[in-house]
Amino acid sequence: MTTYVAAIDQGTTSTRCMIFSHAGEVVAVDQREHEQIFPRAGWVEHNPAEVWENTRAVAAGALAKADLTAADIAAVGITNQRETAVVWDRKTGEPVHNAIVWQDTRTDRIATELGNLGGGQERYRQKTGLPLATYFSGPKVKWILDNVEGARERAEAGELLFGNMDTWVLWNMTGGVDGGLHVTDPTNASRTLLMDLSTLSWDADIAAEMGIPLSMLPEIRSSSEVYGKVRERGALAGVPIAGILGDQQAATFGQACLSPGEAKNTYGTGNFVLLNTGTEQVMSENGLLTTVCYKIGDNAPVYALEGSIAVTGSLVQWIRDNLGMIGSAAEIEDHARSVDDNGGCYFVPAFSGLFAPYWRSDARGAIVGLTRYINKGHLARAVLEATAYQSREVIEAMNADSGVPLKSLKVDGGMVVNELLMQFQADILGVPVIRPVVAETTALGAAYAAGLAVGFWAGEDDIRNNWAKDKEWTPSLDEAEREKTFTKWKKAVTRTFDWVE
Ligand code: G3P
Repeated sequence: MTTYVAAIDQGTTSTRCMIFSHAGEVVAVDQREHEQIFPRAGWVEHNPAEVWENTRAVAAGALAKADLTAADIAAVGITNQRETAVVWDRKTGEPVHNAIVWQDTRTDRIATELGNLGGGQERYRQKTGLPLATYFSGPKVKWILDNVEGARERAEAGELLFGNMDTWVLWNMTGGVDGGLHVTDPTNASRTLLMDLSTLSWDADIAAEMGIPLSMLPEIRSSSEVYGKVRERGALAGVPIAGILGDQQAATFGQACLSPGEAKNTYGTGNFVLLNTGTEQVMSENGLLTTVCYKIGDNAPVYALEGSIAVTGSLVQWIRDNLGMIGSAAEIEDHARSVDDNGGCYFVPAFSGLFAPYWRSDARGAIVGLTRYINKGHLARAVLEATAYQSREVIEAMNADSGVPLKSLKVDGGMVVNELLMQFQADILGVPVIRPVVAETTALGAAYAAGLAVGFWAGEDDIRNNWAKDKEWTPSLDEAEREKTFTKWKKAVTRTFDWVE
């Protein structure tokens, strides 16, 4: 009997279930968007109950589309938007607050106060690999315990559980209030500011400083092992759950970046460049993160350097939803093609402050270089170019940290269908940009992690062999022009600073 592997991809804007064959081909996909809740400027929330309902629905939808049942699925893997924090009651399964999303900046003051204890933004860098920034989960949990009435007492009494979206989905899939597993993997745990990168365990001192009881924190297991079976009465009932990877680490795995020196850039809501550094933890001196790339079963953990960019694809959504300038995301390319260049206009989307390599929560978005000459086409170009410039900034930081300049860039994610952007990315980097046949490498990576654990795939060579190139873009812009426009971009970035006191 032919069997398949399923992946749940719980992302920032939607949840998907994808089913893959042994050759790594997509057999079926089902997807549902969830509401983006913006209670105030700089705040972003999701409703965890809606996300869980969507997870169940897309699992059923994907199986139905492929005309399969749970008996045809060898294992399921989970991948997720990282850092987004959920706190819920272990007895009722009720979240005590909406999930606070990774893009949310409400923990700005908490981060500053913790930094003032000594060390500033670098306070936890040595242990966790991360700067103290609004991005990560720990301070978000602290915010919930500080601001939801009675939450801290309930947490201290052992009544509340914390999880990133992987843990929330897994706990519900494995029975919820009826014995659900409270488990995560090191890639997700490494995004909390609470995990020691060397021991892969929670750091009691940091948790105490943030006032987070250790009893709330999930057990950290590996990224690829059988955690348990699906116990809720959904479409996947009885299937082993055998992989958990944060979405960017999953994309790295799905891109077969399995050797030190291999890197990928994922074009999603934000962009995330990850460079595999093997079993070595490389501490960044140029504004990048050190993070866990994956840990397969009992093998030693593999680490990565990461350049995280908060806003890229979500800028196109903003142009569509908030300005109504385009009817669909795909239209942005048509507008951009109606002009030859950006007309001198630069759009710095510092909607969540600026992440790598700046880590400035005081920044806010800016469009600069406007004249009466600028039209919709120039603006569309500036929107797309912002993704490429931001990617170059983090890749420059990566080259400086690793001492080995990147020779080519593997790309994936929703925006890589945009040919104009891919060409511009190659132009502005000065190295080839390569797209694989399966550009949905996030779900594929989670499927690989799960499939490896149950023997569906024998080892990493299967993953390498499944990877195939679809298209390559080579740089065509002359160097003087490239540097001129990039210098303008860097100047535009400085215009976003010091906006929030
Ligand atoms: O760190 C945030 C990241 O995991 C979100 O990814 O694909 O949902 O934009 P995505």
